[in-house]
This record gives sequence, structure tokens and C-alpha cells, in this order.
Amino acid sequence: MYTIAHRGASGYAPENTFAAFDIAAEMNADFIELDVQLTKDGHIVVIHDDRVDRTTDGSGFVKDFTLKQLQSLDAGSWYGAEFKGERIPLLEEVLKRYHSKIGFLIELKGHASQVGLEKAVGRLLSRFSMHHIVQSFSLKSIQAFHDMYPSVPTAIIARPSFGRFSRSQLNAYKSAVHYVNIKYTRLNRFLISTAHKHGLKVFAWTVRNQKTAEKLQMMEVDGIVTDFPDFISKDG
Ligand code: G3P
Ligand code: CA
Repeated sequence: MYTIAHRGASGYAPENTFAAFDIAAEMNADFIELDVQLTKDGHIVVIHDDRVDRTTDGSGFVKDFTLKQLQSLDAGSWYGAEFKGERIPLLEEVLKRYHSKIGFLIELKGHASQVGLEKAVGRLLSRFSMHHIVQSFSLKSIQAFHDMYPSVPTAIIARPSFGRFSRSQLNAYKSAVHYVNIKYTRLNRFLISTAHKHGLKVFAWTVRNQKTAEKLQMMEVDGIVTDFPDFISKDG
């Protein structure tokens, strides 16, 4: 079972920064989960929200900034003074720094406003050999990615209704992804075994306490996305 550090070890350091990724690697997480978007000048940067306001000292939409403008923002102080000077990383910098140590679960953000993101991410990943999985909330986006790069493992962040997958959901997922990533509050044993029977592995997000992690491990999920990678027992 994989331990997946959500936006890095974001329970201990500002999300989606090198500080959070360093801690995730120190805690021996199997994967770093991170969120990517394109800048105005076409670079792939690591940031969750479509605006920079919550996690930096700037204001505005990520897509309206050039890389240089974005990297002049402080992405650490909002979390704690000791993180002042953390920058919004380039995906390429992150892959270079950790590719021999840890895998990546890369989330494509903002399907509607991020034209070309799927192609740009796939092209960059083809230069690296580490274990990576690409995911999205958007089936359209992850299907487009899978069609262009069928050898890269993919995941859908799924929203099962009433504790079940519909037949059409399952068929759509099976044509585009290898993993379903589900909010842990919506998971149950039936969903997990249905996914497994259809050849899909199951991740659970986002876990913030040990009891929940233990329960999910007993339910035989294949990975837990957590802000606290040290909460996940490696014996499970
Ligand atoms: O991996 C799933 C999780 O990251 C989805 O939610 O909002 O943290 O990107 P969010
Ligand atoms: Ca994410």
C-alpha cells in the first residue's frame, strides 16, 4: 500500500513547496501528490488554487502570471514565518530534484482554463523515468491525457454517488485510468472490491488522522493520500 504525501507533507510545511516535498521524502512517502497549472508563458508550475491569493503574497489568476512574476512571490510566509522565501516550484525542477527518490501523483488542474496542459505534462514526463501517475477530477482531461500518452498510469478523482459506481462510470474509467482516487468519507468495502474486480486500484484522500488511516488499511485500499505521511504504518 502506497503512502502519498498530499501537496507534499502539507501538515508540516506550506503545500506544494520544496519544504513540503523535502519532508515527504524524509518521511519515506512512496509518492508526492502535487497540483499543476500552466503560466501565461507556458511553463508548468506547482500550485493548487487557480488564484495565487491563498498561498502567496500576490493576487490574481495563475494563468495571468509569467513564470518570472510567479517565482517572485513568497509562497511560504502564509504558513509560517520560518518558511518565508519558499517559491512556487516549476514541475521540471521538482522532478529533477526527487526523481531518483520518490514517485509522483501529478494532478492536472483547471481543465477548462488550462488548454495544452495534458500535452505539456506528458512531454515533460517522457524525459524522466521515475514512477509517476497522472490524475484529474475531469474525466475529459484524463481521457485526453491517456489517449496521448497511453503508457503513463492514470487516475480519476471520482465521486461515486450513494456508495456505488454506475455501470457507465465503471466503463468510462476502465477506458481511461488504472486508479480511482476517492474521498475517504465516501469509501466502503463494496466500492473497493467492485473497483478491484474491474482491475482498478483504489486510493483514498485526504486523511488527517491515524485512526482513519488504520481503518482504510484494513479495507485494503491501495494508497492513502495524507497531509501527514508519518501517520501511515508501513507494516499495514
Ligand atoms: O489526490 C486527491 C486530492 O489532491 C484532491 O483534492 O483539492 O487536494 O487537489 P485537492
Ligand atoms: Ca491535488
